[in-house]
Amino acid sequence: MKRVLRNEMKTKLAQMTDKEFQQKTNAIHEAFFSSKQWKDASVIALTISRKPEVATKPIIERAWKEGKTVCIPKCLPETKDMHFRRFQDESELEVVYFGLQEPIVHKTELLAPDDIDFILVPGICFDPRGYRIGYGGGYYDRYLAGFTKETASLAFHCQIIDKVPHEAHDIPVSQIFTEKTTLICP
Ligand SMILES: Nc1ncnc2c1ncn2[C@@H]1O[C@H](COP(=O)(O)OP(=O)(O)OP(=O)(O)O)[C@@H](O)[C@H]1O
Ligand SMILES: [Mg+2]
Repeated sequence: MKRVLRNEMKTKLAQMTDKEFQQKTNAIHEAFFSSKQWKDASVIALTISRKPEVATKPIIERAWKEGKTVCIPKCLPETKDMHFRRFQDESELEVVYFGLQEPIVHKTELLAPDDIDFILVPGICFDPRGYRIGYGGGYYDRYLAGFTKETASLAFHCQIIDKVPHEAHDIPVSQIFTEKTTLICP
């Protein structure tokens, strides 16, 4: 079920025009930058987005400009573990599996969950309770199980569906910023 929804949404997102993508992304960023979560966080974790995900590069740049610490995930496929490393410059990135960009371990510092104020959690489909369908690795679900601070996601409004099927290990996010509304999840 999750896999079907994931694929349907990917197809739907791929149909978005560049203009639509750009305009909606800008609106989502504006909503996010005016949030308390953004303002209060001095250490923020996020991914390096790839189209058609809501772009995160402008967020990274703004965070650097405001003196916030940015960290990005390093996935360990053997153990399905993930940790976050401090990201300060493009030269610290390498392309790993599926063209994903990740921090180069010897160039970046490891951050513990307790060091992070806020995690922007990626996903493909979301529902108003904050449940999400991610990329299917369970990396975020595992990490969030040991994380007690703020979480949110950025999504196009069309990525919000009535109900995401969830299992016991799925951990919902607290807020979802879209170009139309900000959902505060119960
Ligand atoms: N805390 C956990 N402990 C052990 N296995 C887990 C845990 N969380 C998730 N998993 C496993 O990971 C797999 C993928 O989970 P799921 O389909 O929810 O991925 P996802 O939410 O799309 O991925 P992600 O969390 O990386 O965005 C499942 O087989 C699930 O059993
Ligand atoms: Mg999950």
